[in-house]
Amino acid sequence: MAVTFPLPGEAASARPEPVVRLRGFSRAFGATKVLDSLDLDIAPGEFVALIGRSGSGKTTLLRTLAGLDSHDGGQEVAIPAARAVVFQDSRLLPWKRVWKNVGLGLTGGEVRARAEAALREVGLGHRLDAWPLTLSGGEAQRAALARALVREPKLLLLDEPFAALDALTRLRMHELVLSLWQTHRPAVLIVTHDVDEAIALADRVLVLDRGRIVAEERIEAARGQRTAAVRRLRAVLLGHLGVEAAEGSYADLVAHPRAGWLAAAE
Ligand SMILES: Nc1ncnc2c1ncn2[C@@H]1O[C@H](COP(=O)(O)OP(=O)(O)O)[C@@H](O)[C@H]1O
Ligand SMILES: [Mg+2]
Repeated sequence: MAVTFPLPGEAASARPEPVVRLRGFSRAFGATKVLDSLDLDIAPGEFVALIGRSGSGKTTLLRTLAGLDSHDGGQEVAIPAARAVVFQDSRLLPWKRVWKNVGLGLTGGEVRARAEAALREVGLGHRLDAWPLTLSGGEAQRAALARALVREPKLLLLDEPFAALDALTRLRMHELVLSLWQTHRPAVLIVTHDVDEAIALADRVLVLDRGRIVAEERIEAARGQRTAAVRRLRAVLLGHLGVEAAEGSYADLVAHPRAGWLAAAE
């Protein structure tokens, strides 16, 4: 009897089911095709960044993955039930205290305790009873992350969540998101127009252009040690966006945030 060994390709069958699976996904508004026959898989726990020019369809894709958008019945769209979204604006209800915003719509008991635990995790344990309008921009986004986290998502969707924050706050948010991701291991899709942000955070970067994924890059280098490793990738991704790469110091700041903060504080 012949002894068979698994072929390299067969190892793929041992991989876990993707948490997101789109096949031939299209979306049009009137006569305008925004997403054009798109295929996308996201593995459990994978951190994916989606970049693209303004109007390229990033938010449309994210809304589809959030289940916020209708789509034609015939299309293959598999997304997990446990998912959460954070937008550029925190969307906290101003008439509810921070912890109530985080606990909003939660089922099961111990809502206050669960909201409190999530807020502590994002460093807002001291603002539980604050009114949303008294929070800084960074704190409001922390609260929005807590509201997402408390739902224990298998898929965390972030649509330019840090675009309105100043550079230093953004770097702190990168550290926070990475540490939350390392603790809870949801799959993450972050939409950003910032190539450096994509490189600092993701395992894989997708470039969306005219409704199609026109490029995909995997990043193997460890986070925090990416400056040298990604210089070429940065140029490649900026090239896909039609921008010529400049030698920026922002990537260095991302790679060595603490040194960066000190330098910036001087
Ligand atoms: N609800 C809508 N109705 C009509 N057009 C829309 C709607 N949502 C988005 N669009 C159009 O689809 C295109 C892609 O939008 P969007 O996904 O928001 O892009 P991005 O997030 O990449 O900037 C844009 O041209 C936008 O005007
Ligand atoms: Mg958008």
